[in-house]
This record gives sequence, C-alpha cells and structure tokens, in this order.
Amino acid sequence: MRRPLIAGNWKMNKLIPEAVEWVAGIQERLPGLPDAEIVLAPPFTHLAVLKLRLENDSLIKLAGQNMFWEPQGAFTGEISGAMLKSAGCEYVILGHSERRLFFHEDDAAINKKILSAQSSELKIILCVGETLEQRNGGQTEDVVKSQLQGALEGIEVDDDLVVAYEPVWAIGTGLTATPEQAQESHAFIRSILGSILTPEDSLKIRILYGGSVTPDNSRDLLGRPDIDGALVGGASLAVEKFCAIIASLN
Ligand code: 13P
Repeated sequence: MRRPLIAGNWKMNKLIPEAVEWVAGIQERLPGLPDAEIVLAPPFTHLAVLKLRLENDSLIKLAGQNMFWEPQGAFTGEISGAMLKSAGCEYVILGHSERRLFFHEDDAAINKKILSAQSSELKIILCVGETLEQRNGGQTEDVVKSQLQGALEGIEVDDDLVVAYEPVWAIGTGLTATPEQAQESHAFIRSILGSILTPEDSLKIRILYGGSVTPDNSRDLLGRPDIDGALVGGASLAVEKFCAIIASLN
C-alpha cells in the first residue's frame, strides 16, 4: 500500500514568524487527522528555524523547493543538497514548472539535480506536467513522458522517488484538472515508470497531483486509484485549508 503524501509548497510566501505560527497550528490539529506523510516546503530561509520547532515531531517533514547540483563552491545565490539536508530537509522538490519557466531549467539540469540530491540522501519530489497549449495540441502524454525520461535518465530509481503531476495550466489558476483527467495522466505516468523500473515496482511509487487543489476538490481527486496525494500551493498557506485537504483522505 502506498502511504498518502500531502505536501505544501509555499513558494515565495510567508515570513518566518508566520511560518512558525503555521507550524504550531498544524501540530495542534494533525493528531486528529487521517494518517499521511506530511511534507512542508517553505522558503530556504525558514528551514532551520522550522526544524528546531519540529525537532520532536516525526509527523511533519521538511523539503527544499529547489537546489543546485554542485556540492559547494562559487555559485552565488545557490544552495546545495547537503545544505538542505543539514537544515533538516528530508525531501527536495525538483523540476517545478515555475523553475522550468522562470529559471529556464531543462530536463538535463533536473537530471543533474536529481543525481546530486540522491548523493545528499534527499528524497525527490519530481514535478512534471504540460502547458495548456500542449494539452490542447494533444501532446500531454509525449510531454510528460519526455520529462520523466529526461529527468530520470541514468538514475537509479527506487520507491523513495515521488512524482508530482502538475499541469501548468492548473497551477494557481483555479482551473483544476478534473479527477478523470488527473487519473488518466497519473495512470500514464505509472505506466512510464513501469517501463523505466518494472510494472511491479512502479506500483510502489507515489504520484501526487498538484494544481489548484483546495478542500473543495481534494476528496474527489484523492479518491482516484493512482492519485496518492497532493502537492498544494496556495491552499497550503492557510493551515485550516491544508488540514481540510488532509482530512479529505478519509
Ligand atoms: P497551486 O495549488 O497554488 O495551484 O500551486 C500548485 C503548485 O504549484 C504546487 O507545487
């Protein structure tokens, strides 16, 4: 059985005091919620502070929103996998569409980051997804397949890998993929993972849906057989909404 994973990606939002307050809020509510792995990806500057707050808390794990592939050196403004690890991260999000769009990350760069993250013993949440133009042009499967194959080329994949299907047109737009559309893409992603690994091993990999997930649509999405959790942006900023999404796993 795949344990559900609900991740909050705060992107470039919240200051440290707000982050600390959010963590206190979720720590209070989490014991009453269904079992799930909970991962929070705050801005880098908040990680070490939050880790101290979470020291005795095994329920909430931290993730970096990105990292560079080099282990150290003269790369002003960048951060390494080892730095994320030492700040208390268990996960790192790689290949987010905002990184691809605004910072020109391609599959080759993401591939190098995955390799580097693995050597720092970070678990990876790899994001893939098509633009609206690509979906309308019937290219969804081709795009997602080449993103997966490009990112995972030469990588030893095991069930620590998490894939997040985030259709670009659904991110921050309020336009969620229908549960049917999402399930179809997730099943396709699992079939590609099956060809990279084995079909049997692909059943162990969690595939999250991301893109305008809210408490209003989460139950329907999370109820689909190949949707193993959610990568939540906007709705993760409010602790009540994030907890309501976790609650909809029931
Ligand atoms: P929204 O939930 O704000 O659409 O963002 C999704 C996302 O990009 C999570 O990584």
